[in-house]
Amino acid sequence: MRAFSRLLLFIIIFIYFPVQTGAQEYAKNGMVVAPEPIASQVGIEILKKDGNAIDAAVAVGFALAVTYPTAGNLGGGGFMVIHLADGTDVSLDFRERAPLNAFKEMYLDEDGSFNSDLSLSGWTASGVPGTVDGLVKLHNRYGKLPFNELIQPAIDLAAKGFNLPFWQAESFNSNRDEFFKNDAAKLIFTKETGEFKIGDLFIQTDLAKTLKLIQQNGREGFYSGRVAELMVLQSQKNGGYFTKEDFENYESVFREPVRGNYRGFEIVSMPPPSSGGICLVQSLNILENFNFSKEEWGSSDYIHHLIEALKYVYADRSKHIGDPDYYNVPTDYLISKEYANEISQKIGEHAVRSSEISPSQILIDESEETTHYSVVDRWGNAVSATVTLNSSYGNKIVVDGAGFLMNNEMDDFSAKPGTPNQFGLIGSEANSIAPGKRMLSSITPVIIKKNDEIFLILGSPGGSKIITSVLQVVLNVIDFKMNLQTAVNLPRIHHQWLPDSLYSEEFGLPEDVKTELIQKGHFIGSETVLGRIQAIMYNNKKNIYVGASDPRGFGKAIGY
Ligand code: DON
Repeated sequence: MRAFSRLLLFIIIFIYFPVQTGAQEYAKNGMVVAPEPIASQVGIEILKKDGNAIDAAVAVGFALAVTYPTAGNLGGGGFMVIHLADGTDVSLDFRERAPLNAFKEMYLDEDGSFNSDLSLSGWTASGVPGTVDGLVKLHNRYGKLPFNELIQPAIDLAAKGFNLPFWQAESFNSNRDEFFKNDAAKLIFTKETGEFKIGDLFIQTDLAKTLKLIQQNGREGFYSGRVAELMVLQSQKNGGYFTKEDFENYESVFREPVRGNYRGFEIVSMPPPSSGGICLVQSLNILENFNFSKEEWGSSDYIHHLIEALKYVYADRSKHIGDPDYYNVPTDYLISKEYANEISQKIGEHAVRSSEISPSQILIDESEETTHYSVVDRWGNAVSATVTLNSSYGNKIVVDGAGFLMNNEMDDFSAKPGTPNQFGLIGSEANSIAPGKRMLSSITPVIIKKNDEIFLILGSPGGSKIITSVLQVVLNVIDFKMNLQTAVNLPRIHHQWLPDSLYSEEFGLPEDVKTELIQKGHFIGSETVLGRIQAIMYNNKKNIYVGASDPRGFGKAIGY
């Protein structure tokens, strides 16, 4: 019976994703996998011009700000993991920062209750954007082609426009009421004559001007002069906190990546202020204590082990991880094999209630729309980049006269200890608000190496579900030996300790598996889409790159 329902599951999946399954891209010289095809093409053109993966990543980053405004951005931030052909691994943190006038209780009402309208909507919700500084800094350090050539495709796409694909037109239409609340957003993202249609030419004149200023002046084109003045002025007029100094002071930071080892593969991922790298490595360390055979994929036993591991990981996340410039994060402890072994011994046949699990008591000195793209070039340089405005289209406010959307990333702070944010995540002092501090993220860009060679490059959007989405694709590839596209396509589950509830995808939990999980003591929660992976794998036997874009989205892997 169980074998039959598993077979049924596979049949359903392959009918459900008929086009994408197996349709992975192969290429010899380089690969770009972005959430939107025009941006993938922009990246490939840069590689063909002999640009390196870093050049392509910069060009794709700016292109996405034009062609994928739901998450691609100038008014937001992100994280990147970079591997260079000479063996260097480094990460770049271009996360937004709290304005210098921010304060701990800024989102609490008079009665002390958390007001999520303030952290999610309007100018009060925005952190100081980091994307432009990040992309410029990345290019200065590792780029090969001139900067103006990398930003030019984005300028052209904004100035001359591009034809809207169906999903983008529908996405604008479904957010129409929200865009109507802000005059500048209404002008760009709604149509007087009704709805956007497939094929409409979409031009963004103000955005083209802003990109031109960045082309001419580098970071200063954004963080000083007209664009910065517009942000400060509009923020101050509308109850926000921005000052000139916020923009003068903003800096993205190169950081040492978080590293781990899983069954002989080296994991290189994002350190704090993202929790992604720590949580991924901690999960893998715990799961390394168990073995899963190919036949066990999707079984209640496998899912049970995943859930139990994740409960401990997310409990620790809630207490111990925050901006390392403000809080002493016990990274080494959290990613140690010893600590993972201890946790693994607590995992038995039956589920432990989340209420019975609390964050580790470590003695230390106290002192959610996103998008991912992956790039690799013919020299073996690679970039794994995730950028975000937090919610879809951020706070849905366009900087009037500058043509780009602002983020609502401030909601990622723990505004009140124990009170969940939009992703249901709770936090503590480690992630409390302070001037200039970076809010904790779940973003998990990863590069996995085998014998010092690139093996896998991937990442995902999904707020708190990013970590679990990335984790399951890694397990699908390493433990279950799936081809990349299948590893990306198959349904995923999610558990984040609190709420004590198992999220799954449509067709992800056959009835018998669900029943067994309930018998083991799990609470079945709602069905939802879990992540949108953009991944590249290197097959060293055939010397070929394999690209896979997640069928949950509308992206494309393009190689050459
Ligand atoms: O940094 C974070 O963890 C969130 N702001 C990411 C938001 C996100 O992924 C929303 N996408 N679906």
